[in-house]
Amino acid sequence: MLIARPFTSAAIKLHPFDCGEPELNEWLARYAGQSEKKDNVRTTLLLDEEAQRVAGYFSMRTFELSAADGESALGRRRRYPAPAMLLARLAVDKDYQGGGVGKLLLVDALQRLLAAADNIGFEIIVVHALHEDAACFYLKHGFRRFLDHQLSLFLTTNDLRATFASTGPH
Ligand SMILES: CC(C)(COP(=O)(O)OP(=O)(O)OC[C@H]1O[C@@H](n2cnc3c(N)ncnc32)[C@H](O)[C@@H]1OP(=O)(O)O)[C@@H](O)C(=O)NCCC(=O)NCCS
Repeated sequence: MLIARPFTSAAIKLHPFDCGEPELNEWLARYAGQSEKKDNVRTTLLLDEEAQRVAGYFSMRTFELSAADGESALGRRRRYPAPAMLLARLAVDKDYQGGGVGKLLLVDALQRLLAAADNIGFEIIVVHALHEDAACFYLKHGFRRFLDHQLSLFLTTNDLRATFASTGPH
């Protein structure tokens, strides 16, 4: 059974995590713990309780979109930066890819952002995809590309509410 849990250093030591992207593997192994302690990034692990290993993870933090990037995403002139949230990383171990785990993680992350939006103001959720393949995964799940950054994608908080309003309660 897969279960979402807050990051712990003990959980990531159970079994090496390998999503096929060295940068994302190394970040989890070496930096997620420090970032967690500093309240810099919050990481959620999806644990396979039977196999005692991490099936996937995502990490999120606050973000500020410059007025120019906000204009590129939202398509209207902006004088001020836009408060945002960053889906900083999302990865699934190779042994679990293609089985719906990525979608499970993304829906979990978006539900947490939806809940946060009741108490914290932010206009937009941003993700910087590592490559076009990852960008396609986000496009498939409702994200849109920035006009002038092909690998940066976004979902407005309004889009987020509409998505969950049409797919059921959060
Ligand atoms: C990208 C990644 C997170 C997808 O996770 P996954 O568990 O393999 O994906 P899922 O099985 O949950 O797929 C969910 C849906 O997205 C689709 N999908 C998955 N990868 C996709 C891709 N690269 N492009 C387009 N669609 C994709 C699936 O076909 C599936 O569609 P369906 O719901 O219609 O069946 C995973 O492959 C991964 O961790 N890759 C390496 C790390 C990485 O690139 N992370 C993104 C960093 S920005």
